[in-house]
Amino acid sequence: METLIEMMRKVLADTFAMYLKSHNYHWNVEGSNFPQYHDFFGNLYQELHGAVDPIAEEIRALDAYVPGSLSRFLELTEIEDELSIPNGVEMARRLMVDNQKVIMTLDIAFKLADELDQQGLADFIAGRLDAHKKHGWMLRSITK
Ligand SMILES: [Fe+2]
Repeated sequence: METLIEMMRKVLADTFAMYLKSHNYHWNVEGSNFPQYHDFFGNLYQELHGAVDPIAEEIRALDAYVPGSLSRFLELTEIEDELSIPNGVEMARRLMVDNQKVIMTLDIAFKLADELDQQGLADFIAGRLDAHKKHGWMLRSITK
């Protein structure tokens, strides 16, 4: 159970890191396709932000505490912190890499939840996998 809890903490940190990066890009993107990128990153950050609280509450439902600080999130996630302002296509490419990392974390969490007969949680994780599969499709399409 402790492995599953720790993996869910990683899911939360990954999701928060990807949320923050897409919000950062929503704010800072420039160029001739500004409206499209601004809206796309806007929709993306809103979807990810909407997932943060439900993920945290799934962790509490496992009777565990939720990490809620930037330093803990940085420890938990392998998603790289963004300090530069790349162009729109490069922003999408970086988020595509991040999205793949979230999917890998979710995959492990799903298998652990399934093994531990946590069917409700496994179902929740499957929903997040589906959302990230769609994010992957859109991010891939932008970078082609
Ligand atoms: Fe905005």
